[in-house]
Amino acid sequence: MKTQVAIIGGGPSGLLLSQLLHTRGIDSIVLERQTKDYVLSRIRAGVLEQGLLTLLEEAGCADRMHAEGFTHDGTLFSNGEDSYRIDFKAHTGTPVMVYGQTEITRDLYAAREAAGGQIVFSVEDVRIHDATSDAPSVSYHSNGTEHRIHCDFVAGCDGFHGVSRQAIPLDVRTEYEKVYPFGWLGILSETPPVHHELIYANSDRGFALCSMRNAQLSRYYIQCSLSDKPEDWTDDAFWQELKRRIPSDYADKLVTGPSIEKSIAPLRSFVTEPMQYGRLFLCGDAAHIVPPTGAKGLNTAASDVHYLYTALRAFYERNNSDALEAYSQTALRRIWKAERFSWWFSSLMHRYPDQSAFDLKMQRAEIDFLRSNTAAQKAMAENYVGLPY
Ligand code: APR
Ligand code: PHB
Repeated sequence: MKTQVAIIGGGPSGLLLSQLLHTRGIDSIVLERQTKDYVLSRIRAGVLEQGLLTLLEEAGCADRMHAEGFTHDGTLFSNGEDSYRIDFKAHTGTPVMVYGQTEITRDLYAAREAAGGQIVFSVEDVRIHDATSDAPSVSYHSNGTEHRIHCDFVAGCDGFHGVSRQAIPLDVRTEYEKVYPFGWLGILSETPPVHHELIYANSDRGFALCSMRNAQLSRYYIQCSLSDKPEDWTDDAFWQELKRRIPSDYADKLVTGPSIEKSIAPLRSFVTEPMQYGRLFLCGDAAHIVPPTGAKGLNTAASDVHYLYTALRAFYERNNSDALEAYSQTALRRIWKAERFSWWFSSLMHRYPDQSAFDLKMQRAEIDFLRSNTAAQKAMAENYVGLPY
């Protein structure tokens, strides 16, 4: 088989890249380890930056998002009983869009299928060959048979546990990592959201987040211990704990109900450098992870896709490889800023097991500063809605 860009991974990064390339007549094949149903069963954050909206529009996949998504101009922050709002739109001129990542992935699959795009599911033993030559290839097994795709470029969009990052030799690759000493217990429930905007809550008992998918579907999280298991938490225990962590005005009007999904996510900051090796380019979770505070996971993946798509266009349309050569440097410059924001926002909002009395005072002072300082709120807003590409 032959294609211009072999894309490993059919998550949002791989699908978006494939669809964008298609709009410019650049051919790709997507290899996905799981089935489509499995990919569409994963629940992820749902706050989208303007940059991602623009990419989805360019990819022709934004209609349902515009019809069903919710534009949020700001967000509530609380600290115990005290709450305040940061108006993102007033500070930056830009709102964010609340629309589930699973729905974006569904829309991208629909678009690839409508365009006759090639996606091979349930592939095994994916290997990248000759990445540093002009003629790389990707081999894989499907239904017990080995196949090989000859291509110009390989896009490694296969998430944190994929093979693409591992294909970069250890003496070339440096990994930076911070593992946080707590997790997020999340539930999805068919109840109306407690508030029309998100609430990020810091409390003596730890962090909580009130989010949503639509008018009848809420997503809530509480900071939990890393040793907790979802089955340790009954729905009732979850609701009680959430109510203790948000201001009582909201706790009193919280509508509870059975959870339809309950899971625990660990929190991690991770970046690998460089994000390219010869003709292999990493995008999204394959190259970096952020803790979910601030919902930058999909948004950072989107900025990588933007830089790689732009660079591939320059190559195919103008025979110019400058942007491809600079890809890692260009993408990482923005990634590190998003890493900093997610790390800072996580530090601000959580209780750490080893936090000293001094650390707590510093955290409290930082929250007070953000609450009262317009410049600090503007900086927060600029990061939350997304730094420019
Ligand atoms: N071969 C083929 N596909 C693979 C392989 C492999 N060896 N390993 C992993 N995959 C697939 C996974 O099954 C998954 O569907 O690659 C896809 C990667 O998707 P994501 O993990 O969703 O990563 P990405 O597309 O970069 O999306 C980033 O999604 O994971 C969230 O928090 C993340 O919000 C961020 C965004
Ligand atoms: C979510 O809705 O799942 C969500 C929203 C905001 C975050 C993290 C997760 O910061």
